[in-house]
Amino acid sequence: MDKIDRILEKYGHQRSRIIQILNDIQKLQTYLRRDALEHVSRRLHIPLSRLYSLATFYSAFSLKPRGKHLVTVCMGTACHVRGAPAVLSRLEDRLKIKPGETTTDDEYTLKTVNCLGACALAPIVVVDEEYHGQTTADKVERLLAGYEKPKAKN
Ligand code: FES
Repeated sequence: MDKIDRILEKYGHQRSRIIQILNDIQKLQTYLRRDALEHVSRRLHIPLSRLYSLATFYSAFSLKPRGKHLVTVCMGTACHVRGAPAVLSRLEDRLKIKPGETTTDDEYTLKTVNCLGACALAPIVVVDEEYHGQTTADKVERLLAGYEKPKAKN
């Protein structure tokens, strides 16, 4: 729990910074593990139930293991009418998973959201924290190629 203690120190053990604290922990572990939440609960004297309600309220948080890369497809109205369903379908085919699932190699988790607040760029796919605007199904392969781990040389 040393790394989590360092995160708590970074925010001065302030309960008012709990969202940033949880965000940093999730970046560290890819999701919010129970043991981490229990540790934060003890250190900051925040009831565990409160941490779980924050973790479930904010869609950015996950209580389930996630892949190394989080692929988020906006399915809000602007993105939907400009082709998001075709983009999502291509991602599902390519990754062989549905929204909410993680690839068997733990590389990608696919997720949908309703409006990322950047409708002018519709349709949008966000990989990790990188926005890809005006995405089309045909651009999916190139988009994912930027995140593929290098293949081992023979
Ligand atoms: S509908 Fe996709 S960003 Fe608003």
